[in-house]
Amino acid sequence: MTTITLRLGLIACGLLSVTACSRSEPKETGPVALHAGVVEDGRRAFGQCRSCHAIEAGVNRVGPSLHAVVGRKAGGVPGYSYSKAMAASGLVWTEEALESYLENPRTHVPGTKMSFAGIDDAQRRKDVVAYLKTLS
Ligand code: HEC
Repeated sequence: MTTITLRLGLIACGLLSVTACSRSEPKETGPVALHAGVVEDGRRAFGQCRSCHAIEAGVNRVGPSLHAVVGRKAGGVPGYSYSKAMAASGLVWTEEALESYLENPRTHVPGTKMSFAGIDDAQRRKDVVAYLKTLS
């Protein structure tokens, strides 16, 4: 429920002006402002994923669409041809699972065909996952 409220809040912040947002959360360091900063950092860090991943539903590139990826089963995008390793991983993309996978994809899912070295910085991984959460 909190997640949904937060998400609605973020959408509202996106639609309304920054002034409208800071009116409901006057302190710039308030939780909403902080979270919006994390999401923005994550959106920027997602630049390194964009060459392979679309965020629109149903658009698969080298990698599957990452629309609504948080909470769904690994290997679950229809029409995308996953590696056997990913299809059989039995993972669910919780925030924790995403953070581990993004740290080192090939260690977390041995045999994955995602050719991406990983993100060393823990905060950056959290930022990316915070951004992924907005994609639903
Ligand atoms: C060089 C291309 C490439 C880059 C860059 C890349 N990915 Fe991937 N990604 C893939 C491929 C290919 C797969 C499918 C993996 C498989 O089937 O083993 C994948 C799979 C995934 C999955 C699993 C999706 C599912 O439906 O189960 C997630 C989550 C993911 N990538 C997130 C990311 C994020 C976040 C980034 C950036 C930090 C990123 N990827 C960067 C190619 C890439």
